[in-house]
Amino acid sequence: MPDMEEHAGCAPVTTTGSVLHVFPPNNCDINILDNGRTVNDFIDNKIKECGSEDSAEPFFVANLDSVFKMHRKWLKNLPRVKPFYAVKCNNVPAVLRMLSALDTGFDCASKGEIQMALSLGVTPDKIIYAHTTKPLSHIKYASAHGVDMMTFDSEDELLKISRCHAKAKLVLRIAVDDSKSLCRFSAKFGARLVSVDKLLQRARELGLEVIGVSFHVGSGCTESLVFKQAIADARHVFDTANSLGFQMSLLDIGGGFSGREDFQVKFEEFSEVINGALDELFPPDSGVQIIAEPGRYFVDAAFTLAANIIAKRVVIDDMDENSDGEVKSPDITMMYYLSDGVYGSLSFLINDAAHTKVEPYLHRAVESSEQRYRSVIWGPTCDSIDKVTDSSWIPELHMGDWLLIDNMGAYSVSLSTDFNGFERAHIYPVVSAATWHALNLSYTFHVIY
Ligand SMILES: Cc1ncc(COP(=O)(O)O)c(C=O)c1O
Repeated sequence: MPDMEEHAGCAPVTTTGSVLHVFPPNNCDINILDNGRTVNDFIDNKIKECGSEDSAEPFFVANLDSVFKMHRKWLKNLPRVKPFYAVKCNNVPAVLRMLSALDTGFDCASKGEIQMALSLGVTPDKIIYAHTTKPLSHIKYASAHGVDMMTFDSEDELLKISRCHAKAKLVLRIAVDDSKSLCRFSAKFGARLVSVDKLLQRARELGLEVIGVSFHVGSGCTESLVFKQAIADARHVFDTANSLGFQMSLLDIGGGFSGREDFQVKFEEFSEVINGALDELFPPDSGVQIIAEPGRYFVDAAFTLAANIIAKRVVIDDMDENSDGEVKSPDITMMYYLSDGVYGSLSFLINDAAHTKVEPYLHRAVESSEQRYRSVIWGPTCDSIDKVTDSSWIPELHMGDWLLIDNMGAYSVSLSTDFNGFERAHIYPVVSAATWHALNLSYTFHVIY
């Protein structure tokens, strides 16, 4: 592990002439993979440690190299669009620090998320308060801490903002076609195009500053062309606002991009459509800053969950007769109980329409000759909706076996509970020595977009 000076702050720290970015030890320890160690080696080791301590507690390994990789992919494909990471998707401090080191902005949805970003050293100008229905006290908090950029989609929200944050820089969220997304938002948020004119007039009467337009095509978007129409809708709103005398300078194209390698539409395809529409309707010389609010894109692939088989039952199905009156041999179903489930890290199975299935795999080696059994995997709590996988044919599992699940970064940690007293999974952030050093360099040179 390279020399690191532990420090409670988040700013770069000077040690013996070089500048290091140091993660505070209290809530954000980080494991550096050096000497060729891989994420898999790290997982193997942790599982060994758990074995020696008889621990079945689930844990995540958060691979920050994956976040870095997604960042590079973003810069390559959407160079004009600055990401403001959606904190709601995964608010693990190591993830936020990594993204902050990469100079992304942050989309915060509440006072708590703003507090969290500020406490990590994010400056207020790098935060958009991207929630259109905000408690008054949260708007006051934003105002008191210099977070000026915020979204709205109704007259009532304008009235609230004019009462307690008259200097806000407002971004009008519009409803766009979200029918091609796995999680839809437009029924709940976004002004219809027909009401835009009236809303903007009202903002003028109240003396408020509207600087831009935002939209969200829905999470887990499966059709790149919806961005084309949404950007055209935004252009229409820009024109209306400009004609009313607003200085429109910001377009926020929201989130919706999957971060999974196996997702049905590649990020490159979205990028091509977005870049084409931006170049046509918001060309670089328009002076409009383009931002986005990606959540799952950055974290989907970064997290792997390890959970343990804590109990097992072999259920013999009722014997019945076939049509010839012969008694069939009984079928059996294996019931396994995992140390994590839908009240814990896997809650997206019931409340994220973009992620309704997982494919756990055994940590130990599996022989192709192993007999397979019809099996159901349950979570650890006393509730029967706590089911991880439906019936599937898998090799026999044994108590103490570890299962791994990939692509666990989005809407997992931030939605988990400790229902029934089962503790939330511990999180181990890891980063390669190469990335660690590259980030130090980024800090040294203040590399930004
Ligand atoms: C306003 C807003 N922005 C961004 C996001 C992040 O979306 P995604 O994770 O699909 O990128 C969400 C998700 O709920 C959202 O509501």
